[in-house]
Amino acid sequence: MDSDLSLEFLRVVEQAAIACAHTMGQGDRHKSDQVAVETMRRVMDSVPIDGTIVIGEGERDEAPMLYIGEKVGMAHARDRHGHGASDEFPQVDIAVDPLEGTNLCATGAPNAIAVLAASNRGGLLHAPDLYMEKLVVGPSSKDAVELDAPPADNLKAIARSLGRQVEDLVVIVLDRPRHEQLISDIRATGARIRLIGDGDLSAGITAAVVGSGVHAVMGTGGAPEGVLTAAAMRCLNGEIFARLVVRKPEDEERCRAMGITDLRRIYRARDLAPGKSLVFAATGVTDGTLMRGVRFFGDGTRTGSVIMQNDPHRIRFIDSIHVTPAKDVKIHF
Ligand code: FBP
Repeated sequence: MDSDLSLEFLRVVEQAAIACAHTMGQGDRHKSDQVAVETMRRVMDSVPIDGTIVIGEGERDEAPMLYIGEKVGMAHARDRHGHGASDEFPQVDIAVDPLEGTNLCATGAPNAIAVLAASNRGGLLHAPDLYMEKLVVGPSSKDAVELDAPPADNLKAIARSLGRQVEDLVVIVLDRPRHEQLISDIRATGARIRLIGDGDLSAGITAAVVGSGVHAVMGTGGAPEGVLTAAAMRCLNGEIFARLVVRKPEDEERCRAMGITDLRRIYRARDLAPGKSLVFAATGVTDGTLMRGVRFFGDGTRTGSVIMQNDPHRIRFIDSIHVTPAKDVKIHF
């Protein structure tokens, strides 16, 4: 995939973040999500690609926009405007979470982000909207842990690989009743826990960045967020270990419809996001550990984003000022 597309995808997440940031703290998570989805969908059509949504807002019958299988990008925008489909654009698979942490945005809590991952065709697993067991660690610990090992063993291994004590570690866990046992197992080791209300995707990214003060993410969250985390791990050299939670026959059917036959498989980042050419783009909606949230000021808007690629391998933290047109604008440092 052309690496110049990364800046196009930056534009998509920046605009989605700006749109939903206007709803921050309004207490209406559906509105926040809707605004992010509509904006992401609109801006996506100005990106010069022949894109297919492989992870999105749900299946076609339940999501009007950014549904799984939807065609996006300039190739299809032209078609929709009656100019005929075009084959001049690169084929790209896209996973989106227009607003990761809808509650976080609706309540003004930290770490809500607008996010997408893009890849050469076939480079992102088609994952149904099920739960996924996850273990996310940074580069130093990736060969030391296992999804099915007891938390105490994994924490000892992480501590060893980082040259510190288990008591020094910080583990992020979604604050959910299903994690009661996990939380008590982690507490018993003496490791510190940060319980979060939502947002295990931005938590996972943080765990793979040295110096963030977070050493692992453990527990069960959304599968789409797992695939997006995997794309980020491919760029950050971190690792995600993950297994789909398939409880009902309908879940099984949804997996099979997406070509998943081994329902107990433990995936790593390279399995969930095998793309040779990946782009991961995220913009902060509310203030977060790695990126600041959207700030509005008289003459414009300021956003903080991260753009990561595996080929060429680079990570860019981008601080943008979006200037209001036709004004005698003052830019502040
Ligand atoms: P939304 O952005 O859709 O609100 O999801 C937030 C989130 O917390 C994810 O980060 C996480 O993977 C998932 O929801 C957990 O699901 P649940 O809230 O059902 O436990």
